[in-house]
Amino acid sequence: MVAETQNASLHRAKGAKEDEFYTQLEDVERELKHYRKHFKGKVVYCNCDDPRVSAFFHYFSYNFEKLGLKKLIATCYKNHERDLFSTHDSERAIFLEYEGDKNGDRIPGDDEIEVKHLVGDGDFRSAEAIELLKQADIVVTNPPFSLFREFVAQLNMYNKKFIILANQNAITYKEIFPLLQKGKIWVGANSGDMSFRVPDHYTPRATRFWVDEDGQKWRSFGNMCWFTNLDYKKRHEDLTLYKTYTPDEYPKYDNFDAIEVSKVADIPIDYEGVMGVTIGFLTKHNPDQFEIVGITKTWYGGATKIYPQQTQVSTNGKTSQVGKLNDGPVLRVDSPPTEKTYYKVDGECYVQMYARVLIRNKKVEA
Ligand SMILES: C[S@@+](CC[C@H](N)C(=O)[O-])C[C@H]1O[C@@H](n2cnc3c(N)ncnc32)[C@H](O)[C@@H]1O
Repeated sequence: MVAETQNASLHRAKGAKEDEFYTQLEDVERELKHYRKHFKGKVVYCNCDDPRVSAFFHYFSYNFEKLGLKKLIATCYKNHERDLFSTHDSERAIFLEYEGDKNGDRIPGDDEIEVKHLVGDGDFRSAEAIELLKQADIVVTNPPFSLFREFVAQLNMYNKKFIILANQNAITYKEIFPLLQKGKIWVGANSGDMSFRVPDHYTPRATRFWVDEDGQKWRSFGNMCWFTNLDYKKRHEDLTLYKTYTPDEYPKYDNFDAIEVSKVADIPIDYEGVMGVTIGFLTKHNPDQFEIVGITKTWYGGATKIYPQQTQVSTNGKTSQVGKLNDGPVLRVDSPPTEKTYYKVDGECYVQMYARVLIRNKKVEA
């Protein structure tokens, strides 16, 4: 009977989205140390967190007094994929409220952590979870990657402060980039490589996957970052620039009124116009130093040229008719590159760059 139930869960999990990535305590600590002053007297809500395994819940319950928190709330989503990971399979979703160490033993005890059942499944969009959200001042979690857009939209709708973990690709989302550009949200203090524990039923992968000596499966991502609307000191530090502009080193795009800067470290110190930089720039962005002017995505607009159908020539010489050049920044090249896919239009040769954030240095006089 038990085996049958597990099989059924496994079967269901197979078609499910892979959303179970458990953040490590050291990653939580490394980021949250930048925001300590914001937590005094505040209600913190971890709304995608099983307190039995969540490093976020652990961090806030153990640092409750040190941070001067008023209350900590966590909701634990009830889904079958998660059940396979949890050793405490529970039939119902729960939420927890913690209001501090009443026994004075510095350990959040069962008598101090009030566990209550939810009627629904604990979805962050459910009415019950929204009632808890309304009580909260700051939401801190690693939400499901697949629902990131909705998650941020909800936080904005309820006007909440937040510190949340995600993939840097989210920077280019049409629901997220405008918030970054307007300075309503920004990228946190740490970014890059992070490793996550994953459930046992997750399929092994050729890269960025391993099983540790305890049999725990892990996955890692090279492009993680935090998104927040709480200020921290480090984001006001200038990026040190040392290169000077030359037209040869920084070619102009063929379809955007900007120059190509392929490495953030190479941003020229003296260029007054618009520059295209990798999306990773936002992990180093100081709003006092640079203005975010746009992004080279079709949904954003701003291209100065529309290409007719193009002939794509792959590195193996294979050709095909495509329309890809209209989604991204393009450089015209004098001769076909050998090591890169290129495009031919009306006898001209072009290469396409990855998405670029368009910026202007506020400290260079026009
Ligand atoms: C990326 S994992 C991170 C888990 C945990 N926050 C952490 O950092 O260790 C996202 C979590 O959100 C949960 N989840 C998925 N969909 C959800 C939803 N609609 N509402 C609330 N939580 C959800 C998943 O079960 C999963 O545990």
